[in-house]
Amino acid sequence: MSETNTHSIRVEPTHTSRLSQVDFNNLKFGQIMSDHMLVATYDDGAWQDVAIVPYGDLKVSPSMSALHYGQAIFEGIKGYKFADGTVSIFRPDKNWERFNKSAARLQMPEVPKEIFLDGLKQLLDIDRDWVPSNNGTSLYIRPFMFATEAALGVHPSKSYTFAVITCPVGAYYSKPISLKVETHYTRAAEGGVGFSKNAGNYALSLYPTQLANNEGYDQIMWTDAKEHKYIEEAGTANLIFRIGDSIITPHGDTILHGVTRRTIMELAEKWGYKVEQRKVSVQELIDGIEAGVVSEAFAAGTAATITHIDRIGFNGKDYTLPPVEGREFSNKVLDYLNDLRYGKSEDPFGWNFIV
Ligand code: COI
Repeated sequence: MSETNTHSIRVEPTHTSRLSQVDFNNLKFGQIMSDHMLVATYDDGAWQDVAIVPYGDLKVSPSMSALHYGQAIFEGIKGYKFADGTVSIFRPDKNWERFNKSAARLQMPEVPKEIFLDGLKQLLDIDRDWVPSNNGTSLYIRPFMFATEAALGVHPSKSYTFAVITCPVGAYYSKPISLKVETHYTRAAEGGVGFSKNAGNYALSLYPTQLANNEGYDQIMWTDAKEHKYIEEAGTANLIFRIGDSIITPHGDTILHGVTRRTIMELAEKWGYKVEQRKVSVQELIDGIEAGVVSEAFAAGTAATITHIDRIGFNGKDYTLPPVEGREFSNKVLDYLNDLRYGKSEDPFGWNFIV
């Protein structure tokens, strides 16, 4: 059966749900996808055939330009379930804005708000039974777009696919993580694509991350391309520190413009903390840890949520952060955001987008 609704999103429901295969008490990150996905195609200068269809393989050409020249971007968003069954998506408008900034930088078409937000709403509506409700769980939402023109030659593709898949998830990191300061490899240079969420930014992280893993670290801490002196972000999330009285995050166009980071910094400001978005040198951080003035360090991202950092490796030496239990700010933010996202408290800023 196929039906067309008021937003011109064609809906083709599955007849064979895989929901019974999911162990909601033991969710891994990104392993099992929900029953449906949204797919839209861009051709002849316009988005067409926006549809919610059963999750499944996409047919692509081997000469498709995304495979050769990397026009591919994505987002990470989370949906939550309240105790009364209400399903809510956290700040998807901010991800829509970032998605289109990534698209513009990679010479890809804008995805209109109706397709992005109405699409998410209808997708989560049809798969609302897939949204988990246990504390620490959520429905991870992955919008993505890639270039589909079947032709070799470096030029912007004439055609694209925009799609959204979702999966019920638990924690990306189940415990505090250790980071190795990366002083050789580079994630992003000034004028590059560091701020955008494009697939290549993750591909380039894999080799240096493996080297850090081999040395016993969970992730890398990227530094600036020019001097490897200033902290940028972790491989999978932004970074936030509490140094002295200030909540500080590195900022700039070589760093992903994170929605979780922005949310946390907005809260810090509203709660009266001193907030700084500025360059932080590795030396400032290390000296601060040694002097006991760095009281908190954490990764902030949609997947990572707030993940405490317990150890930082730099120039062959390890620096240990204070115990997690005593971290007043990050624990307070985590509790606040959990209550808000699961509908246990007020939503004074209108961050919950109700499905
Ligand atoms: C996210 O936080 O949503 C991301 O896309 C990061 C990725 C490493 C899972």
